Amino acid sequence: MQVIEKISDIQAVLSGHWNNKTSIGFVPTMGALHNGHLSLIKNAGKENDLVVCSIFVNPVQFNNKEDFKSYPRDIQSDLNILEKVKCDIVFHPSAEEMYPGPVDGRFDFGDLDKVMEGAHRPGHFNGVAIVVSKLFDIVKPARAYFGLKDFQQLVIIYRLVKDHNIPVEIVPCTTVREEDGLAMSSRNKLLGKTERRHAVLLYKSLKMAKVQSGYLPVAQLKKMIEESFRHDKVMKLEYFEIVDMLTLKPIKLWSESKQVVACIAAYAGNIRLIDNLVIFS
Ligand code: PAF
Repeated sequence: MQVIEKISDIQAVLSGHWNNKTSIGFVPTMGALHNGHLSLIKNAGKENDLVVCSIFVNPVQFNNKEDFKSYPRDIQSDLNILEKVKCDIVFHPSAEEMYPGPVDGRFDFGDLDKVMEGAHRPGHFNGVAIVVSKLFDIVKPARAYFGLKDFQQLVIIYRLVKDHNIPVEIVPCTTVREEDGLAMSSRNKLLGKTERRHAVLLYKSLKMAKVQSGYLPVAQLKKMIEESFRHDKVMKLEYFEIVDMLTLKPIKLWSESKQVVACIAAYAGNIRLIDNLVIFS
């Protein structure tokens, strides 16, 4: 496995592969790798000749300085993990390497980034689009792998590659969960014991929403979930939305859409977690 820090170096290595028509599978990450990332890397290994994984905690997608500072980082442990799977190249640039000058770039995602994560983390998706388009340009992968846990991010990445004619196939990958149902996330590493125990409320709420969707109107279902968070002393709900899977528009009636996903964001203590579950499609 090669670990490369410079853009010119990775491009020199990859240029031979671009010419040979080697298919490159790319897994962009911010490190603090867990089994969710490993499943993306495994999928990339099955479907491509060469696997590239990037590890870069992207400062421009954080709207909160403290969140950026406390984001878990452990490059040595990440590299040890990657040694054990089929990962051919790790791209681990510095912030100066990725952003040598002022960072600009405005992306227009219509209404897709006006709700949920976009509404609560202003500028977040613009920052994601800046780094992902830059990484795509550096690596020029045939396929790129993203987890369904970040459902809104995935929808926005689809829109990004469509609007900018980026020749890459986006491959969505199933959310990997802990035994109790908590979605795997790098942020889980920051949870204390009590927060970890309570954090399962996100998944429990989503499952409850799926079961009750056959019986309760949308508004009542939302109230029920909000109520269950009010009873929990550790968890604080930021949003629970039921949205159309393609437009991400919140629905008021089940009949408004044929493909519906429930999305949730909540704090376990100070740690912000997100999750989602398809209600029907
Ligand atoms: O999902 C993530 O880990 C990040 O948003 C990504 C796609 C690696 C961009 O920094």
